[in-house]
Amino acid sequence: MTVAARVPRRKKAGPDAADLLAWYDRHRRVMPWRALKGQRTPPYRVWLSEIMLQQTTVKTVGPYFEKFLTKWPTVDALAAASLDDVLRAWAGLGYYARARNLHACARAVVERHNGIFPDTIDGLLALPGIGDYTAAAVGAIAFDAPVVPVDGNVERVITRLYAVEDALPAAKPQIKQLATALLPAQRSGDFAQALMDLGATICSPKRPACALCPWSESCVAYAQGRQEEFPHKAAKKEGKLRRGAAFVVVRDDGFILLRTRPDKGLLAQMTEVPGTAWSHDFDLADAEAAAPLKANWRRLPGVVEHTFTHFPLELTVFVARVPKSSKAPKDMRWSAVKDVQDEALPTVMRKVLAHAFETPVPARGPVRRSAR
Ligand code: ADE
Repeated sequence: MTVAARVPRRKKAGPDAADLLAWYDRHRRVMPWRALKGQRTPPYRVWLSEIMLQQTTVKTVGPYFEKFLTKWPTVDALAAASLDDVLRAWAGLGYYARARNLHACARAVVERHNGIFPDTIDGLLALPGIGDYTAAAVGAIAFDAPVVPVDGNVERVITRLYAVEDALPAAKPQIKQLATALLPAQRSGDFAQALMDLGATICSPKRPACALCPWSESCVAYAQGRQEEFPHKAAKKEGKLRRGAAFVVVRDDGFILLRTRPDKGLLAQMTEVPGTAWSHDFDLADAEAAAPLKANWRRLPGVVEHTFTHFPLELTVFVARVPKSSKAPKDMRWSAVKDVQDEALPTVMRKVLAHAFETPVPARGPVRRSAR
C-alpha cells in the first residue's frame, strides 16, 4: 500500500475564494445589468439594478431595468426626469420610498458629483437611499472595492459555511466579518456576484444542491448534515392587521374617481381611489358614511389583501356607477380608464381595481345626486 493510500483524504482547511470564482466563471447567470466576463458594469447600471433588486426578484426586475435604461440611459437623464414620471415607471415594483430616493440620488450625483458616481464607500453612503448593502454592492461590482455586500443569499451561504449559531439579525456583523475575510485579492465584484449566484442557485433555502457546490468540502453545516437549519432567525413580530374600505366610482363614460395621497407618509404622493383611513379598529358598518359621493354603493364580496413592510392590510371594496355629469369632490379628479395605467398607482391600488373590474361594476341604479 502506498503512503498516499493510507493517508485519509484531508478536508480542506477552509473555503477558498478561488474555488468560488472558478465556479462562477463556468456558471454565472446572465443578467441584463451584468457585464460580459472580464468586464465591469458601469456604476449607474449597478446602482439602478441593486435598488430594484432590493424590492423583488431578478425575473421581475429585468423588464423594469430595461424600461428605465431606455427612458433614462444615464444618471443625468434620470435626474432630469420629473419625480412623477419616475414613480409611474416604478409602479408595480412597490415601496415607493425607494423610487423617491432613486430620483433624489440621481439628482445628488449630478449636483454634487457632476454626474459621476463616487468610487468610495463613504462617498456612496453619503448619497440618498444608499445604505450599507447598496454602497458595498456598487463599490464591489462597479469599482472592485474590497467589500462584500451581504444580502439574504450571502447570509445563507456564510451561515452554512461556518455553521453560525447566532440568529439573524443579531448575527449580521459576524456574517459580514466572515464574508469579508474570504475576499480574494482581486475580483471583489465577481466574488460578490458569485456569492449571490451560489445562494440563489445551489445554496437554496430548501434542499440545497450541496453535491454541486464548490465549497462543499469546507462547509461546516454540510459536514454536520445540518445545512437546511441555517440561517437561524429570531422570531419576527408580525405587524398588526389594519383594515379599511376603498371606493371605486365609475362614471357612465368610463372615467374613474382618483385622488393623490398626502405629501408625506406611506405611499406619499401616489394615486389612489378614495377610501377610509386604514386602522386596527376599522368598522365596516361605518364604511359607507365615508364614501366620496352619494351613490348606489355595492359592496364586493371578499377583501383585497396586501402586506406592507410593517403591517398587513385588508380592504373591503365598494363600487358604484354615477352619471357623466357627476362632479369630482374636492381634491379628487376623474381619470379615463385608458389613462389609469399611467398613474403612479401603488400595487395595493392595482389590486383594488383588479378586484373591482373582475366583479363587473353594476349598471347605475337610482343615484342620489347630492355629492358630499
Ligand atoms: N441580487 C442582488 N444583486 C444581485 C446581483 N448583482 N447579481 C445577482 N443577484 C443579485
